[in-house]
Amino acid sequence: MRDLMNCRACGLCRERQNVVCPDGDPLSPVAFVGEAPGKKEDETGRPFQGRSGKVLDSLLEEEGVPRSSIFITNTVKCRPPGNRVPTREEMAACLPNLEEELQDRRLIVALGRTAASDLLRREVRLSEELNKVAKVTIRGREIDIVVTYHPAASFYNSKVKDALRQTIRIARTYLEGRGSASSKGI
Ligand code: URA
Repeated sequence: MRDLMNCRACGLCRERQNVVCPDGDPLSPVAFVGEAPGKKEDETGRPFQGRSGKVLDSLLEEEGVPRSSIFITNTVKCRPPGNRVPTREEMAACLPNLEEELQDRRLIVALGRTAASDLLRREVRLSEELNKVAKVTIRGREIDIVVTYHPAASFYNSKVKDALRQTIRIARTYLEGRGSASSKGI
């Protein structure tokens, strides 16, 4: 395991208050990946604690998925100043950490375009790929991946919550050991 707490692999280390380590079940088959820590996460050292986290928590609860049953992390573990999008270089510097966290999962849920593009190593159009289970190779292992909206997108578009509910239902099938059930009709 890398020494995340003392990591200085990119410039984000200069302004952080805390390194935001992953949360939830370290052995969960399902990992949710967000973009980057925000202010609240920087203060607490835990992912998805602020407004986006509240949306995620309430949708997980509605769908009967305990937050403690999934693994939650971010593309980068330190807050980009002013909540800007992490740069490619920052995400690349943090990729070994992310790959180590994800290599043994059965499903990765990419929350938003930044996480999806980082994981799939290409530009992702959410409108075209939303809630479709695809494959990603991490350290030589093929893992299912589903891309969806970031919970913060629900602040501006009420339909986002429905898409996220659908995503969580897909995740639930993996948690229940039903694997790669088609997302249709879930
Ligand atoms: N947004 C993210 O992408 N990650 C967090 O941990 C919090 C907000």
